[in-house]
Amino acid sequence: MTEQSEKLITIFGGSGFIGRHLVRRMAEQGWRVRVVVRDTERATFLKVAGRVGQISLVPGSISNEQSVEAAVQGADAVVNLVGVLYQRGKRSFQAIHANGAANVAKAAAKAGVKRLVHISALGADTASPSKYAQSKAAGESAVRDAFPGATILRPSVIFGAEDGFFNLFGWMMQIFPVVPFFTNTVPHAEGGGGPKFQPVYVGDVVAAISQAVSGEAHAGKTYELAGPRVYDMREILNMVNDATQRKRWIIGVPYFIASMQALFLQFLPTPLLTPDQVKQLKIGSVCSGTLPGLDAFGIAPTAAEAIIPTYLKRYRALQQTKRLRMTPRKGH
Ligand SMILES: NC(=O)c1ccc[n+]([C@@H]2O[C@H](COP(=O)([O-])OP(=O)(O)OC[C@H]3O[C@@H](n4cnc5c(N)ncnc54)[C@H](OP(=O)(O)O)[C@@H]3O)[C@@H](O)[C@H]2O)c1
Repeated sequence: MTEQSEKLITIFGGSGFIGRHLVRRMAEQGWRVRVVVRDTERATFLKVAGRVGQISLVPGSISNEQSVEAAVQGADAVVNLVGVLYQRGKRSFQAIHANGAANVAKAAAKAGVKRLVHISALGADTASPSKYAQSKAAGESAVRDAFPGATILRPSVIFGAEDGFFNLFGWMMQIFPVVPFFTNTVPHAEGGGGPKFQPVYVGDVVAAISQAVSGEAHAGKTYELAGPRVYDMREILNMVNDATQRKRWIIGVPYFIASMQALFLQFLPTPLLTPDQVKQLKIGSVCSGTLPGLDAFGIAPTAAEAIIPTYLKRYRALQQTKRLRMTPRKGH
């Protein structure tokens, strides 16, 4: 057994989108992986990401200081991936992104953990109009105060088979003949394609996290993680249209319509759009250029066009698959 194989990593939020990729990556690298989840039964799928006994699931919430302290005991590294997209009851942005992050950082410092990686988000800013972005900034400063050597990663919107962003538009293309994006100006004027994003591949984010937990080189630093290209919202929807082969109409509509829709959609059991998300959409998600990025990890960012069609093809019409299957092969 190598020295690396005896190391223990505690991952908060390991059952989520990034988390499941990270659990697999760390297990492949020989780490023992302890995943903190609120519902261990729902997270049993993670067990097969490693050898028998390599991945353990422990019940706990980031909001419960005792469970956080117990979860980091004996860990060499800790990663906090916990985040929420909307507020519901006690699950406020402040409670999860700021207070929860502080609980993890304080417990990790107290337990003598060597490496802490905290996942924030591009646009984290106390002066942002979005409460999500404000709470992410509050979380970053709480982490820095409690654990100065933490590595803070701010990803842009992330793509990968289980993502929430591209899959949502794929699903919309499957259902609706017209798919809107929001813009402040007329479609063909500068900025008429809507807000700008720099999507980053989940595999690249996980590669950066695994490097940050494995050595001291990235300690105490903050990084912005983004893909190789900036797209406006219309370009993103065109990409989804191509990948799903749906040929939907993509139209720009003013933000006040988004705000009105959000007033209703925020009350769905899983909100499709909230007023705070409309504020985030307006800002977009592009690197500031003032912080180091994936290149500081020696990672060449993966292009969205190389990956997105591989999983958005699930939203293609059945008819399409049938037609392809029934097309006679040349020479027959
Ligand atoms: N995905 C993106 O495009 C993106 C972009 C920028 C930043 N980020 C940030 O990256 C992080 C991970 O994102 P993700 O997309 O992987 O999120 P995700 O799929 O929603 O996963 C979030 C995880 O947090 C867990 N969780 C929620 N509340 C918890 C609590 N009170 N205690 C313990 N665990 C709790 C969830 O587990 P349950 O099953 O128990 O709910 C889930 O495992 C988040 O901080 C997010 O803000 C994501």
